[in-house]
Amino acid sequence: MTYKNTQKLDNNRDMIIPCKKGNLKHVSEFISLKNLDFEGDLSSCQLVYGKTGNRIYLLGLGENKDAVKIEDAFRKLAFDTKKNWNKGIQVSAELLSDEEIKQAVIGLELSNYDIGKFKSEQKKEVELEITFISKNNIANLLKEGQYTGETTNQIKALIDAPANIKTPEYLGEWATKSAKKHQYKCTVLHKDELEKQGFGAVIAVGQGSVNPPVVIVTEYKTKPNAKIDIGLVGKGITFDSGGLSIKPSTNLHYMKSDMGGAAVVLGVVELVAKLKLNVNIVGIVASAENAVDKDSYRPGDVINSYSGKTIEIIDTDAEGRLVLADGLSYLIKQFQPEKIIDLATLTGSVVRTLGFTAAGMFTNNVDMAKTMSSIGFKINERVWQLPLFEDYEADLHSDIADLRNFSGKPIAGAINAAKFLEAFTESHKNWMHLDIAGVSFGDSPYSKMKSASGFGVQLITNYIKSLN
Ligand code: BES
Ligand code: ZN
Ligand code: ZN
Repeated sequence: MTYKNTQKLDNNRDMIIPCKKGNLKHVSEFISLKNLDFEGDLSSCQLVYGKTGNRIYLLGLGENKDAVKIEDAFRKLAFDTKKNWNKGIQVSAELLSDEEIKQAVIGLELSNYDIGKFKSEQKKEVELEITFISKNNIANLLKEGQYTGETTNQIKALIDAPANIKTPEYLGEWATKSAKKHQYKCTVLHKDELEKQGFGAVIAVGQGSVNPPVVIVTEYKTKPNAKIDIGLVGKGITFDSGGLSIKPSTNLHYMKSDMGGAAVVLGVVELVAKLKLNVNIVGIVASAENAVDKDSYRPGDVINSYSGKTIEIIDTDAEGRLVLADGLSYLIKQFQPEKIIDLATLTGSVVRTLGFTAAGMFTNNVDMAKTMSSIGFKINERVWQLPLFEDYEADLHSDIADLRNFSGKPIAGAINAAKFLEAFTESHKNWMHLDIAGVSFGDSPYSKMKSASGFGVQLITNYIKSLN
């Protein structure tokens, strides 16, 4: 899709007229308000035909409280009806705020996502021109919405891709290509380099797979010689079989999505570069396949980590915290970032706690929690804080190593995982962990099976924007 901004509506062409619930006065400009069976409920739509037979879509945006879901309304309308738009459509933006315009563009762009990338017959994409009608110059908003939507579609494609295609090395190639295209730095540490540099935990998790692990280091800087404002770390398990502590086979195919945190990190760094945000950011992806093999690491093993801490493996299915531990230690040692956020589809426990509605947020920093929470509510990518009380520390105790990767108890799983990560943060004052297991991948109106949601790209990008 391409997006244009003009001042005057062409009454003869197709158009979308967004309507807030109970506020339909502006519609009388185009059609008679009599007998209108449409009230403006969120995502409702009424198609009427104008004088020249042009289509006029009245699109319901609901009440003020629904403003966070405007993206969904536009996405649904475009998904359902764009096959009938003749080369393009106009969107009346007079009554939309800047944020609403951006959300509209993101929604339109998300309607382009094609989940059937591996079908032998590919859908032909029709190039549509979307013209926003506004007296203001909204070109930058349109661009921002378009970039955000495009990048979100790309990270969804990564999450929905099968594990035989998106190996750790594949994620490295994805990042290398993106970095070249959008002018940021990307270094992929391959297996021999990981061994040399002491990424003991990443190596252990990946040693049962024919697809070797990698650590991807992306850097985007606008201020040379200044500190790194923010460092991101993503869990990039391209398939989580559980390892020797093997998972049950029901729904195991969905464990291709266990690199949702990595996808957000890759997406955010790309988007920050596209938007040329004034920030120094480092994005680390710790990627491995957790496979079953003669070489797999075992329950009971003691492994080394980048930090020098030794870890007793109780459960090989608690692998995410291991690769993240190395990612966090590496980030802190090499870059000393001002703020750190890690993202991971880390625990089933967070899904049982918060369902599919909010990510689990862990931090000791009250300001970061407040800011993240408020940003999340505004764009409907919500986070909810869970505690990091000292009381949970005993669960990390190992008799034979510095710590163990699982308490062995079926309680407070998301918190225990977060406490484990905390042990690798060098008590960094501005660290936050987001457990996105319930929100990154799930049911969707646009697919019959579970699929990627795109959760996190806007949340983290907006958080980064709030730092200025
Ligand atoms: N990748 C899973 C967590 C997960 C579960 C993500 C469901 C998405 C949906 C993670 O590696 C895992 O297996 N966690 C275990 C840890 C346990 C063995 C300590 C869990 O949460 O059950
Ligand atoms: Zn696991
Ligand atoms: Zn996992």
